[in-house]
Amino acid sequence: MIVKQKKLNIGVIGAGSISGSHLEGYAACEDAVIFAICDLNETRAKAAADKYGATKVYTDYRELLADPEIDAVSICTWNNSHAEISIAALHAGKNVMCEKPLCKTMEEAKRVEAAVNESGKLLQVGFVRRYASNTAVLKRFIDAGELGEIYYAKASTIRRLGNPGGWFSDSERSGGGPLIDIGVHVIDLCWYLMGRPKVKSVSGNTYRKLGNRSHIQNLSFYQAADYNAELNDVEDMANALIRFENGASILVDVSFSLHAKSDESMVKLYGDKGGAEIEPELLIVTEQLDTIVNINPQIDDRGFNFQDAFSNEVNHFVQSCLGHRETLSPVQDGVEITKILTAIYESAATGKEVQF
Ligand SMILES: NC(=O)c1ccc[n+]([C@@H]2O[C@H](COP(=O)([O-])OP(=O)(O)OC[C@H]3O[C@@H](n4cnc5c(N)ncnc54)[C@H](O)[C@@H]3O)[C@@H](O)[C@H]2O)c1
Repeated sequence: MIVKQKKLNIGVIGAGSISGSHLEGYAACEDAVIFAICDLNETRAKAAADKYGATKVYTDYRELLADPEIDAVSICTWNNSHAEISIAALHAGKNVMCEKPLCKTMEEAKRVEAAVNESGKLLQVGFVRRYASNTAVLKRFIDAGELGEIYYAKASTIRRLGNPGGWFSDSERSGGGPLIDIGVHVIDLCWYLMGRPKVKSVSGNTYRKLGNRSHIQNLSFYQAADYNAELNDVEDMANALIRFENGASILVDVSFSLHAKSDESMVKLYGDKGGAEIEPELLIVTEQLDTIVNINPQIDDRGFNFQDAFSNEVNHFVQSCLGHRETLSPVQDGVEITKILTAIYESAATGKEVQF
């Protein structure tokens, strides 16, 4: 007898920009049903519910969590509510996919981790780069030893004009600027591909020199759903040197505003047997027959395919909830990345290296 597997009923909390990528992923996943949508803005929640055929609409996430029909939730709200909603969801018996960053502070991160342990539920952190197909290909090469020991990584996410405004530039709701918003992706990507070494020390700088450059004309840029240029107390740019106990290091710089010639996205890893680039495009560097060889993998997307990565991430979450897979981005990794990010801000504020 074939037993038909139950589909997971999903609630999406926060119906702004990124929720669309989660919803597209759930809509394409045959083991999930988009059951409920919640947003403080009811019109926005209703529009998403209509588009994706959700049965229920909420404006208070606590009411959504009290719904016994919901098995799992995606949290796509401002960063300041990630910890609070994650903890409440776990205690309500729901599995959780929480957008990056996991939260704003280490104290929050520890409380989320404790709630995962107490509840026995799953929390997947939205480190979407880990789920991209180009990352999966590189991970296979790394796991097979093709790069050897990775001892150095270099990452850059530079926007010359890209402060999204609204909650993103309100530190109370975001926890910071480009470092916590986009730096988190590339730091995590390097750390994950380096084999998640234990962090030893962090030295960072943050700058507030250019503001959000909202006076710039004739050049468009990404803006928050509720854009407001007046509110801006986050850094324009940040850089950091992160050292690990195994001797490896990451050098990173990120910006929302910078007098740069163009935007730039770059992630490079260097090992003792080979090197690799994953941003802007996958490339592997090695030696063969005393010759340096650049390997250009022939795959559909050598670059980061945004929706494909989100669909993989959502599907991986659903399969993990059903017990078919292990998540690639567990809560512990969210805690370690929070430790790195908050240490960079602390080092920048004190002018001193933070040692662990
Ligand atoms: N993985 C990625 O590449 C990626 C990209 C963009 C944003 N994000 C993350 O996704 C989250 C949302 O970002 P966004 O760009 O969609 O922002 P957004 O401003 O477009 O949408 C956020 C929505 O959350 C709602 N909201 C806020 N607090 C709420 C609460 N307590 N209950 C219910 N609804 C609430 C707001 O009303 C808004 O509609 C952020 O944490 C951000 O860091 C991730």
